[in-house]
Amino acid sequence: MANDLLKGKKGIIFGALNDLSIAWKVARRAYEEGAEIVLTNAPIAMRMGAINDLAASIGNAPVIPADATKVEDLENLVARSMEHFGGKFDFVLHSIGMSPNVRKKKQYTDLKYEWYNQTLDVSGISLHKTLHVCMKQDALNEWGSVIALTYIAAQRIFPDYNDMADAKSLLESVTRSFGYHYGIKNKVRINTISQSPTVTTAGTGIKGFNEFINFSESMSPLGNASAMDCANYCISMFSDLTKFVTMQNLFHDGGFSSTGVTQQVVEKFGNPEES
Ligand SMILES: NC(=O)c1ccc[n+]([C@@H]2O[C@H](COP(=O)([O-])OP(=O)(O)OC[C@H]3O[C@@H](n4cnc5c(N)ncnc54)[C@H](O)[C@@H]3O)[C@@H](O)[C@H]2O)c1
Repeated sequence: MANDLLKGKKGIIFGALNDLSIAWKVARRAYEEGAEIVLTNAPIAMRMGAINDLAASIGNAPVIPADATKVEDLENLVARSMEHFGGKFDFVLHSIGMSPNVRKKKQYTDLKYEWYNQTLDVSGISLHKTLHVCMKQDALNEWGSVIALTYIAAQRIFPDYNDMADAKSLLESVTRSFGYHYGIKNKVRINTISQSPTVTTAGTGIKGFNEFINFSESMSPLGNASAMDCANYCISMFSDLTKFVTMQNLFHDGGFSSTGVTQQVVEKFGNPEES
């Protein structure tokens, strides 16, 4: 179902690792809606090769490696993207998350601080660096739209999300702060989308993810939102239909964030002798 919602728009998509990635689906949908795209990911992720298959399927989009924690990589990415597009572009998807503490099973109360810094840098500060470079190179058109993906653990405790919760809080705060400055300067809007738990490489790295995804499903009146539905929401946020939305954390979670309890969950705690 394509409606030319992004016809004439150009953008950079970070974070398509494989066909489960949310960014992969956003790239496919953006292309279907008429956008021109540059793909990027960390140099190490390029070795898997899958991103080249995606590039081929969306009109041979250029693939420009960049470690999103390295300002010089981002400067190269933005400069080369502008060369490719022949000028400024309209949207950016920041779909990046990684915690060495989660990967190496360090408890939140016993974090390794070197890794904690890496978590914050890769998953939070990288958004600031990206926006900083875009602003310096005057790379984004007026009414441009930047989306970063986040999770409700930024607001409420989900113990196994570990230090990623702190990184997501930072990411959402950068969204508000930079959204103010970029809005005033160039009418660029910046938002986070807070997505339901989704089966992807990053998602399944969290301890107890399978149980958790089922819990979340039973706590969401509409059920968990899929990666493809998240991609559709991103497309609407990149389009001109949402021009005055900025500095927001937008829940895309089937109602999970507003639900205290559901009948389905209450019944799980019933006394079998009473029923
Ligand atoms: N999967 C979920 O349950 C879920 C829920 C809410 C939010 N999110 C968020 O969605 C985003 C995308 O994750 P996903 O679930 O599609 O998983 P994914 O594993 O497919 O994507 C994560 C991406 O981050 C990239 N990355 C890691 N370090 C990087 C670096 N230094 N520089 C550049 N890129 C780097 C990886 O290469 C990968 O492509 C993340 O921000 C994640 O936290 C995921």
